[in-house]
Amino acid sequence: MVPPGLQLSSISFSRCGERLAPPAIADLMAKALETPGLLSLAAGFTDTATLPVEALRAAYENLASRPGPPEFLQYGTNQGRPLLRALLARRLAGQERMPEAGLSPERLFIVNGSQQALALASQVLCDPGDIVLVEEPTYFVYLDVLRGLGVRPVSLPLDSSNRIDPEGVEKLLWELERSGNLPRIKAVYLVSYFANPSSRTLGEEEKRAVAEILARRGLRLPIIEDAAYRELYYRSPPVSPSSLNLETFAGFPRLYLGTLTKPFATGLKIGFGYCTSREWLDRILYLKGQHDFGSSNFAQALLEEILANGAFEQHLVRLRANYERKMRALNEVLLEENLPGLGWRWEVPEGGLYLWLRGPDGLDTRSGKPFCRRCLARGVLYVPGDLCFGDRLETRYLRLSFGVLSPDDLREAARRFVAAAREASAG
Ligand SMILES: Cc1ncc(COP(=O)(O)O)c(C=O)c1O
Repeated sequence: MVPPGLQLSSISFSRCGERLAPPAIADLMAKALETPGLLSLAAGFTDTATLPVEALRAAYENLASRPGPPEFLQYGTNQGRPLLRALLARRLAGQERMPEAGLSPERLFIVNGSQQALALASQVLCDPGDIVLVEEPTYFVYLDVLRGLGVRPVSLPLDSSNRIDPEGVEKLLWELERSGNLPRIKAVYLVSYFANPSSRTLGEEEKRAVAEILARRGLRLPIIEDAAYRELYYRSPPVSPSSLNLETFAGFPRLYLGTLTKPFATGLKIGFGYCTSREWLDRILYLKGQHDFGSSNFAQALLEEILANGAFEQHLVRLRANYERKMRALNEVLLEENLPGLGWRWEVPEGGLYLWLRGPDGLDTRSGKPFCRRCLARGVLYVPGDLCFGDRLETRYLRLSFGVLSPDDLREAARRFVAAAREASAG
């Protein structure tokens, strides 16, 4: 019985923001902070030592010395600064080997990192109970976005060489049709270049096969192509064009996502989307207007300078060499210490920030399981691979990030990791 006049507080929350799965990654990060001397191969952070302080100082000085009011410190527009959009559209057209004017800045919008575009674009497409087709494995934060919306991620099947399997996709669509779920598929999400977590780049034929199979069924579904790591190749740019530039995708609404965080400065948190559908774009912008009515005008103005004066490209050249060096430091110790001899397998990436490892038969890499505890005890942390699978439990994989640690720390982290793997294989 509540005494009169005393109110019990009670909050009735909406479904949005509900935590459907335990926040395993947050637990891991908390453990990392609690463990002194731990070397984390888990965080997807970029290299701190090479962050472009001088390029940004010069860009700021240039902006500040311009005659007239400092408009860059005022609110900007919801869609983003016109010059930045034009520069990014031109840059993207260059990567696609399209004519300079091939992509219209009108279809390009600026966001608080491509993460914001992922959330907005999915929110305007999906209702609870809908389905988004994803890769296996895929970007686990996007899986959280989907689950937060009550959307079911369904994986595109792979063949024995880890390529999207056209027959498997046909079969999947047939099963979805049979269960009455075909109309619930609202989008296809592809991380197409040096993906997180697999570091894999989708081949042109894989992308085309997906489009052809969908088109044959009259399913010209929205495609969300996440190209967050496209710029982070080590030696040569990926040859495969994006869905924006593949004939087979004509007639599909496409949203291409790029970012200036990973290839330049994560702290500026600026990304962009290019949308071929006017209506999809308008809805995304309408929702963005409700969130923030425009990303930081100051960060955008700085990036305009940086892109226009060539500092962006110069920084990237250094960054690519740096990430290749770091990847090799980690990879070499894993090989020297004979991790393959313990039944572990991985492919050496040609870009990106991750090694994606498959453990030996029977190994369980999940958080809280003995292998994970052994690694923590030895002072090394990874991302358990089960987080990256949309609709099935897969416990043999894990992701190692080499973005943030120094080469020496990476070598030490690799030695600790192999020591834990050796212990695990000895039983
Ligand atoms: C595949 C992928 N997409 C999108 C993002 C979001 O990046 P940002 O919001 O910094 O552009 C990330 C970040 O790790 C990612 O790995």
